[in-house]
Amino acid sequence: MHFLSSAAVLAAGFLSASVDAAASQAFTWKNVRIGGGGGFIPGIVFNPTLKGLAYARADIGGAYRLNSDDSWTPLLDSVNSSNWHNWGVDALATDPVDTGRLYLAVGMYTNEWDPNVGSILRSTDQGNTWAETKLPFKVGGNMPGRGIGERLAVDPHSNNIVYFGARSGHGLWKSTDYGVTWNNVTAFKWTGTYFQNASSSYTSDPVGIAWITFDTTTGSSGSATPRIFVGVVDAGQSVFKSEDGGVTWAWVAGEPQYGFVPHRGVLAPADNTLYVTYANGEGPYDGTNGTVHKYNITSGVWTDISPTSLASTYYGYGGLSVDLQKPGTLMVAALNCWWPDEIMWRSTDHGTTWSPIWAWDGYPTLDFYYSYDISLAPWLQDNTSTAQFISRVGWMVEALSIDPFDSNHWLYGTGATIYGSHDLLNWDSEHNVTIKSLAQGIEETAALSLLVVPGGAPLLSAVGDIGGFLHSNLDTAPAQAFHTPTYGTTHDLDYAGNVPANVVRTGESSTAIQIATSSDHGVTWNPYYGGSLSTGPGKVAYSADADTILLMSSTAGPVISKYTATFSAIPTLPSGAAIASDKRNGTVFYLSTDTGVTFTKTATLGSSTVVNQIRVHPTLAGDIWASTDVGLFHSTNYGSTFTQISSGVSAGYSFALGAASTTSGYPVIYGFFTVDTVTALFKTEDQGLNWAMISDAAHGFGASSANVVGADMATYGRVFVGTNGRGIFYGAPSGSLPPVTVTATSTKTSSSSVATSSGTSTSSKVSTTSSSVVGTSSSSTKATSTTATSTTSASTATGTSTAYGQCGGTGYTGPTICPAGWTCTYSNAYYSQCLQ
Ligand SMILES: *[C@@H]1O[C@H](CO)[C@@H](O)[C@H](O)[C@H]1NC(C)=O
Ligand SMILES: *[C@@H]1O[C@H](CO)[C@@H](O)[C@H](O)[C@H]1NC(C)=O
Ligand SMILES: *[C@@H]1O[C@H](CO)[C@@H](O)[C@H](O)[C@H]1NC(C)=O
Ligand SMILES: *[C@@H]1O[C@H](CO)[C@@H](O)[C@H](O)[C@H]1NC(C)=O
Ligand SMILES: *[C@@H]1O[C@H](CO)[C@@H](O)[C@H](O)[C@H]1NC(C)=O
Ligand SMILES: *[C@@H]1O[C@H](CO)[C@@H](O)[C@H](O)[C@H]1NC(C)=O
Ligand SMILES: *[C@@H]1O[C@H](CO)[C@@H](O)[C@H](O)[C@H]1NC(C)=O
Ligand SMILES: *[C@@H]1O[C@H](CO)[C@@H](O)[C@H](O)[C@H]1NC(C)=O
Repeated sequence: MHFLSSAAVLAAGFLSASVDAAASQAFTWKNVRIGGGGGFIPGIVFNPTLKGLAYARADIGGAYRLNSDDSWTPLLDSVNSSNWHNWGVDALATDPVDTGRLYLAVGMYTNEWDPNVGSILRSTDQGNTWAETKLPFKVGGNMPGRGIGERLAVDPHSNNIVYFGARSGHGLWKSTDYGVTWNNVTAFKWTGTYFQNASSSYTSDPVGIAWITFDTTTGSSGSATPRIFVGVVDAGQSVFKSEDGGVTWAWVAGEPQYGFVPHRGVLAPADNTLYVTYANGEGPYDGTNGTVHKYNITSGVWTDISPTSLASTYYGYGGLSVDLQKPGTLMVAALNCWWPDEIMWRSTDHGTTWSPIWAWDGYPTLDFYYSYDISLAPWLQDNTSTAQFISRVGWMVEALSIDPFDSNHWLYGTGATIYGSHDLLNWDSEHNVTIKSLAQGIEETAALSLLVVPGGAPLLSAVGDIGGFLHSNLDTAPAQAFHTPTYGTTHDLDYAGNVPANVVRTGESSTAIQIATSSDHGVTWNPYYGGSLSTGPGKVAYSADADTILLMSSTAGPVISKYTATFSAIPTLPSGAAIASDKRNGTVFYLSTDTGVTFTKTATLGSSTVVNQIRVHPTLAGDIWASTDVGLFHSTNYGSTFTQISSGVSAGYSFALGAASTTSGYPVIYGFFTVDTVTALFKTEDQGLNWAMISDAAHGFGASSANVVGADMATYGRVFVGTNGRGIFYGAPSGSLPPVTVTATSTKTSSSSVATSSGTSTSSKVSTTSSSVVGTSSSSTKATSTTATSTTSASTATGTSTAYGQCGGTGYTGPTICPAGWTCTYSNAYYSQCLQ
């Protein structure tokens, strides 16, 4: 309604062209299947009373519900630019009484990266629809310690009562009306003082309350459960309890205090025991020491049951689960055991003895007590890795859950996927279980760039943390991420317009040249020898004839290389400026006409202060579009002059040109724009005269400014949206055949088109100085939100790591240099290691 009325205002104020500006067109959307999740899963929660009901949460990509076929259904795809931070889910609670009820604590950051307060989302239909209550403080789904939990819990005897434990010193909060209104539990005065590191606002915010665990054996249905345990992220006293339904609270005497913080607190009701995992860091990347303790509620005795002794551990503990069907059976996981692989254990005697998922059989031999099945996401292993020990069990294991109704069914979350199986009892019988990637339907990657190469695969993607892919089939998980070289985060891709089999890719690596080229549409790659380990990835543009690469290096600013010469700086181009290459004229970059030797500002784009993206017509030389903070601009003369699109477009973010509906037509433009004050995904088929919104109430795509858009010049209607945490989508107009696995055909060629725009080429030097300034801020906005799964991985530390020590990885801040004779070797996005 708001949308229609603003459109009406606009129709009166602008020319007739905008009458249709408020139109929308129904599109059908599906995830491009990467499979396997592709990011951190901080929480997995089974409902304790309804068999088969379980949920998983992601740190920047919403929440999911488990289906009976082991796949997952996303629950927050309605989130759009207006409430983008609701994709950060810091806690989840499923109601054990009314099993339709589900609660999420949402918000992305508690520091200045996110200006908005957090919310409790509540559903009565297992997450299909939501109501929202804003809290008087921020919630940090992508903050440190996000795998600790769950800090949201429903009273099992009086399900109108819901508790939430805040971050940032805001304490414990309680609702007595099913999460509609909330009040501070002022009698609970321990807010959690622990934080990771005072060096930044991101790491210095107190993690707050850790978890809330009701003792279901106390009290009775209809009145508040008397005994409640609350863990607090504090290196001193950290486990507290109430015996009177939350009126008064006290420390649980005898709790061990080693300076560790409690990650998970799980009740074994049949044993009257509370189990707690501790680590000397809040996670998800750290932990080098810790314990597992059990607290006998009857006797009040704490017992250290750690699988590895304090003296010899090099990891803390995270994931913890008890088998409700088998009293005395429980499992724990190291929070991170980076070498040789993540480890977890199972006990059938209340933690007195443990059996591990793998064990040394005389170094360097390992016995693996599992079979490994990544058929649903083969890319989880880089099969070109030369690491001596391959990470398979995972890392960042905070979420570990045994199905409360099925002792054979277990799931656990890692930094990259969800693993589990239906044969867990084999652990006890033959000590050999299946570890299978069971994250089908979870797509939580952050996409940084999408490219459809004429004549190539349906899509190439650049994604955070797990590199990026050649998608030969949009509905099938790719077999391998881009490799040789392998990048943790791939920043950008481009192709050479006249010889499109030539593709360039840039990304982060501590062991490989950070820029690579392919001459077979992105199927195979070689390091680009003009680059180095310190080139610095960034936005990249390939000249039309594939002889020159322009790179907006994250470390050196704008640099250029021709014929694999070493990259050299371009003083005339502002750092952070949006860049692009002409797709026909091999000497033109935007905005340079001498193959990037000099860049000159010759046009200003209205009152814009930032150019967000430049897109170039694939076959018409000199025909370019630029989205800015004040709207969309078009030039047909190599950027000499620009025309602002006046049909109500007041801002533009990522966009792309796709196939026209007729062979002679101008390409369709798809992108995130603000049209008639509505910020959403739009398309225009007539060069910006008329617009139709193609996102909808069920597909909001999160933050418009963080998304990337791609389109296919060979298939009308085919558009791609890369989100910041919900993977990649592809869409087509509803009613048309759902685009499945069509292989792109060659681009249309146009021989007559160049003349249209070549006339004014002498004055074609253009650059928007303004764009550079905003370009920088816009890219940092993206980086901030991408921090999501990734966080900055560039280590600024000096010094030398140790033999077998860590030397790189997402979130790692230690030394990146190895001792003489040792090589820093990529293991996974979170871990590179000094090996011989
Ligand atoms: C974005 O989501 C909000 C909240 O659900 C909704 O009110 C608004 O209409 C949506 N905006 C668009 C453009 O769909
Ligand atoms: C809530 O209560 C705690 C403990 O009493 C207090 O430290 C905190 O400041 C309160 N928070 C708010 C937002 O009132
Ligand atoms: C805190 O972070 C800074 C900057 O990354 C680092 O130099 C320092 O060693 C860290 N301190 C601790 C105690 O980890
Ligand atoms: C807890 O302590 C009580 C009292 O000492 C004892 O009877 C009980 O067996 C203990 N429970 C477990 C699971 O060891
Ligand atoms: C772990 O911490 C404990 C308590 O501070 C300490 O005694 C022990 O030596 C530490 N373990 C290692 C391997 O450093
Ligand atoms: C467990 O089973 C897998 C798959 O059959 C096998 O590779 C592995 O060696 C077995 N582990 C042991 C310790 O026998
Ligand atoms: C890696 O996997 C890809 C895709 O399945 C396959 O084509 C390639 O041969 C494999 N490489 C190695 C070294 O196993
Ligand atoms: C390419 O652009 C340059 C610089 O504007 C111009 O001199 C040249 O004529 C163009 N080439 C073609 C084939 O249009």
